[in-house]
Amino acid sequence: MTVTAATKDTVCVTGASGFVGSWLIMRLLERGYVVKATVRDPENIKKTQHLLDLPSAKERLTLWKADLNDEGSFDDAISGCSGVFHVATPMDFESQDPENEVIIPTIKGVLDIVKSCVKAKTVRRVVYTSSAGTVNAVEHTIPEYDESCWSDVEFCRRVKMTGWMYFVSKTLAEKAAWDSAKENNMDFISIIPTLVVGPFIMQSMPPSMITALALLTRNEAHYSILRQIQFVHLDDLCNCHVFLFEYPNANGRYICSSHDTTIVELAKMLRERYPEYDVPTMFKDADETLKPVSFLSKKLMDLGFKYQYTLEDMYDGAIKTCQEKGLIPLASEKKPAIEEKKPANEGKE
Ligand SMILES: NC(=O)c1ccc[n+]([C@@H]2O[C@H](COP(=O)([O-])OP(=O)(O)OC[C@H]3O[C@@H](n4cnc5c(N)ncnc54)[C@H](OP(=O)(O)O)[C@@H]3O)[C@@H](O)[C@H]2O)c1
Repeated sequence: MTVTAATKDTVCVTGASGFVGSWLIMRLLERGYVVKATVRDPENIKKTQHLLDLPSAKERLTLWKADLNDEGSFDDAISGCSGVFHVATPMDFESQDPENEVIIPTIKGVLDIVKSCVKAKTVRRVVYTSSAGTVNAVEHTIPEYDESCWSDVEFCRRVKMTGWMYFVSKTLAEKAAWDSAKENNMDFISIIPTLVVGPFIMQSMPPSMITALALLTRNEAHYSILRQIQFVHLDDLCNCHVFLFEYPNANGRYICSSHDTTIVELAKMLRERYPEYDVPTMFKDADETLKPVSFLSKKLMDLGFKYQYTLEDMYDGAIKTCQEKGLIPLASEKKPAIEEKKPANEGKE
């Protein structure tokens, strides 16, 4: 992406402390934007220091307290902004109360944010970070997905695969947001990232890294998500957010995904590249004949957007960052003498 002259527009980013939000803010500050960043607890230094340390943060970044559960709490942060990047979402796959902790806040939150944008009267465009989970959580997988595809909420609720409440929350929230944006004549676009991997600046383990690194950490509950998986680099995703905010005629949904592979191919790449980790070699219901499933991002690329990173770049950056922050061990503790067969197909992505 070419860097244009600094804009000095004021924009709001929700979910600022997180994996995507914090990197997006770094890129927005670099481009000259003034950023109003929302977090649930501005006093929590563990969640905000990496933002306060960013170049130009002193001059152009402010933190605002807001919660998707508190109606109207985004009003002040959004007031006076020309753009809103709604990134925040509850991402708790282990939630004991998925309806109240994940699904309802996600839906009510996005509707509340559209309301705050209408009230502000200054917002030119809302960029909403959606998810691949709104697209391909369906009973019968197809070889290629595009922006016309939607997940089957009833199927997710019935099967309860790993992450089901997240897929339901994001699907219902995006659909509700489209209706509300149309009713309110709000310029709204959604970005559909697949699994986001790369170096990061937040302090703790990003939720998506738990899935991405599951083969290194042997977190088998996440193997079903990796079975036929698509990826995008965190930096490509954040550049895509800025690109689509700035692109005058952007409209509708945009898939942002640069690579697709299978758990078998991914394991092979990781074994060769990181021999210090004990990566499994065999998977139940997945072998060399398994074909990848694609997420087509033709609509985004037709606007002139270019991806800059390889899958190896994504994993090199993610593993190095996790090691430096002490979030994963530098190597597996011990390799078992004989590989066991591991389940890989408990549900859909
Ligand atoms: N990472 C991926 O692979 C991936 C893939 C597809 C789509 N996405 C989408 O990308 C967005 C960002 O995800 P991420 O990977 O950056 O996750 P993350 O690191 O967990 O960040 C999410 C942020 O949302 C905030 N949040 C959670 N519950 C909230 C609530 N009730 N009210 C206000 N804020 C709340 C958290 O803020 P606090 O720190 O203030 O608690 C957190 O910083 C999400 O919309 C997600 O659906 C991510």
